[in-house]
Amino acid sequence: MKYTAVILAAGKGSRMNSGIQKQFMELGGFPLIYYALNAFERSRVDDIILVTGQEEVDYCRTEIIEKYQFRKVQQIISGGDERYLSVFRGLCAAEGTDIVLIHDGARPFVTDDIIERTIQSALQYGSGIAAVPVKDTVKIADDKQFAVQTPSRDHVWMMQTPQTFLYSLIKPAYEKVIEQHIQNITDDAMVLELALGRSVKLVKGSYRNIKITTPEDMEIAEIFVKKM
Ligand code: CTP
Ligand code: MG
Repeated sequence: MKYTAVILAAGKGSRMNSGIQKQFMELGGFPLIYYALNAFERSRVDDIILVTGQEEVDYCRTEIIEKYQFRKVQQIISGGDERYLSVFRGLCAAEGTDIVLIHDGARPFVTDDIIERTIQSALQYGSGIAAVPVKDTVKIADDKQFAVQTPSRDHVWMMQTPQTFLYSLIKPAYEKVIEQHIQNITDDAMVLELALGRSVKLVKGSYRNIKITTPEDMEIAEIFVKKM
């Protein structure tokens, strides 16, 4: 069995509102993307595909992969305009693998335990999605911002990454949603739901496995990184 991680770092980071793209911002003395790469380098995956912006491929090669000597990063490729297009390019580059782990480069605090749980689930159920139950009550609102529905909190989970799949399941599902020009795909689990009508299996993520999205996430990350 071959295990391949696709690590995503091709976003613009518009909600971060910073000069430098968020995946390269400094956190605890390293660029943010270092942490996700390091977690997968130390995991049992065989190889890593880093997906980044066309303009950042060379920078990633010299200033991150070579500098920190990540040996498992076998390809650095350019992504697309939307996350799912970046994922699809990563999946195409991963041809021949058995299990693919799709991870947001903007989640520095992923652990080996989380990675392992998603793998075990993918082996058993075809998919394993890191997730945590919501802490706040969630409401569905209409276009005028009136709350119209309150899903039971026991059944509402926040999706994280890694989202891990049998390659033979996720690749054709992605091909199908791309062929059908389905838009607004915000995670990989959705692709299985939309393309195959198939439920994904959720596994325990962690409340520390946050995605660095807005400036306050960086403040939280500064605290977490001191405990690593
Ligand atoms: N990503 C990507 N390609 C894209 C968009 C996003 O590889 N076209 C990656 C990001 O680099 C990030 C992950 O997907 O690691 C999750 O996306 P998000 O947090 O939305 O990051 P950005 O898209 O960069 O941020 P924003 O939406 O605020 O612009
Ligand atoms: Mg985005």
